[in-house]
Amino acid sequence: VSKKVVVITGASSGIGAELAKLLGSNGDRIVLAARREQKLNEIAASSGRDAVTVVTDVTKREDVDHLKKVALEKCGRVDVWINNAGRGISRHVLDLSDDDVDQMIAVNFKSALYGMQAIVPCFQQQGKGHLINVSSFLSQVPLVSFRSVYSAAKAALNMLTANLRMDLLNEYPDIHVSVVMPGVVWTDFGKNALGGTPNWGSGGGRPPHGQTAAEVAATIAELIEHPKSEVYTNPASPGLAKRYREDPDTFEREMMKRG
Ligand SMILES: NC(=O)c1ccc[n+]([C@@H]2O[C@H](COP(=O)([O-])OP(=O)(O)OC[C@H]3O[C@@H](n4cnc5c(N)ncnc54)[C@H](OP(=O)(O)O)[C@@H]3O)[C@@H](O)[C@H]2O)c1
Repeated sequence: VSKKVVVITGASSGIGAELAKLLGSNGDRIVLAARREQKLNEIAASSGRDAVTVVTDVTKREDVDHLKKVALEKCGRVDVWINNAGRGISRHVLDLSDDDVDQMIAVNFKSALYGMQAIVPCFQQQGKGHLINVSSFLSQVPLVSFRSVYSAAKAALNMLTANLRMDLLNEYPDIHVSVVMPGVVWTDFGKNALGGTPNWGSGGGRPPHGQTAAEVAATIAELIEHPKSEVYTNPASPGLAKRYREDPDTFEREMMKRG
C-alpha cells in the first residue's frame, strides 16, 4: 500500500474525521479542511504525525483555492482530493425558500465544483490523481422526502461528477473520479441539518439500518486503493436503488405504506 497525500474536506467531524484518523494511522499525509479550527486541530492531533489543517469554508471559492495552495506548498503534491463536506436540510419541497435552496446548492454542490476545478488541473499536470465526491444514497431514492433539496443537490453532484469523468476518460486514464453514496451514517449530520432533524440526535435515538462513520471511512479507504466510479457504502443500498429505478411507482407506494 503506497503512502499518499490526501486532502479531506469536512474533516472536523463524522465521516471526514474518521477517514482522517484511518488514513493518518496508515501513514498517509493528510490535509484536513473545515470551518471549526479547534475540532480540526483535535482530529489532526489524533491522526498522527504531520497532518496539515486549513480552516476552509467550502462555499467560498477562494477558500477552496487557498486549501489547494497550502496542500501543494506543504506536501509538494496531492494524490487524492475528497469533497466530503456537506449539510442536510429538513424541509419539504413546498416549504423551501430561495435561501434554503441556495444554501444547499452552495454547500453540497458548488463546494465540490470548486474542489474539482481547483485540483483536477494539478492532476492533469501530474498525469494522475483521484477525485472523490461524497454524495448520498438519497441522490438515488427519495426515501426521506424532507431532505428535498439536499437530495436534489447530491443528485446533481453525481451527474456533474460523471460528466467530469467522461471528459478525462480518454486522455487521462490515470485520473480517477468517484462518487461515494452512504446510506444512514450515525454522525452529527442529522443534528447539523438546516432546521435540525425531527426525532434524531436529541435523545430520540438514531435511525435504524445505519453505519458507523468508521465503516464508511473504511469503504473510502478501500476505494482509494481500488478506484471505481460509484460506490454505495451500505450493502442494502444497491438492491434498493435498482428496485426503485425498475418500478418507482410500486416502490414509492410501498415506502409510504411502511411510513
Ligand atoms: N450522516 C449521514 O447519514 C450521511 C448520509 C449520506 C451522505 N452523507 C454525507 O457525508 C458527508 C459528511 O457528513 P457527516 O455525516 O460526516 O456529517 P457531519 O458530522 O455533520 O460533518 C459534516 C462536515 O462538513 C463540514 N462542513 C459543513 N459545512 C461546511 C462548510 N461550509 N465549509 C467547510 N466544511 C463544512 C463540517 O465541518 P465544520 O462545521 O467545522 O465546517 C463537518 O466536518 C456529507 O457530504 C454528507 O452529506 C452523510
